Amino acid sequence: MTPGGPALRALFLAGMAAVALCLASTAGAQPPRRPRPLENIKTLKGWTGDEVRAEMRLMAEALGVKCDHCHVQGNFASDEKRPKHTARRMLALTMALNADNFPSHTPGEGQSKLGRVTCYTCHQGAQVPKQGAGPGAMAW
Ligand code: HEC
Ligand code: HEC
Repeated sequence: MTPGGPALRALFLAGMAAVALCLASTAGAQPPRRPRPLENIKTLKGWTGDEVRAEMRLMAEALGVKCDHCHVQGNFASDEKRPKHTARRMLALTMALNADNFPSHTPGEGQSKLGRVTCYTCHQGAQVPKQGAGPGAMAW
């Protein structure tokens, strides 16, 4: 055996081990996670998955709730929760309001695709919008 042989062999083995580790970790790697196609869209027809999800975040913020206010855990397509049904009616209401009154509004980057009037316009972070016109209302 030539001098330095064992050292070289050790180096070679260490290199092979590194390559093997590398291959193993690539083989086990998941492909980039692609969101599932939406299964139960009745109101936001024709919207892309990204558009629906962006609107969902705005809706939750507008009402001051989390996703699970309307959705059962782990199943966004389920219609089990009552607020989801109300939210569908509210989506239709909001879209009709915009189509009738603000048809030329074009949403900017990050703004609601629903239009000028959004859930936030009425709800302002609350589940039930303020009514106003109580005893303290302005006397005309
Ligand atoms: C105020 C109620 C409400 C809240 C809060 C809400 N959603 Fe939704 N979500 C809905 C409604 C209503 C639909 C169905 C829309 C339709 O039929 O066009 C829906 C649909 C979805 C879908 C499509 C499911 C499918 O496969 O059909 C996803 C995904 C989703 N929501 C995610 C979220 C996420 C994430 C959050 C929190 C950031 C959230 N939602 C918060 C009411 C809500
Ligand atoms: C034009 C004003 C207006 C807009 C826009 C609006 N809402 Fe509402 N929403 C109301 C009013 C008013 C109520 C309370 C109705 C009542 O007292 O029964 C309500 C009630 C609700 C409720 C039931 C609250 C509860 O606990 O009883 C949900 C859920 C809701 N809205 C979701 C939404 C979502 C989601 C959007 C946007 C897609 C939206 N709303 C847009 C006016 C609005």
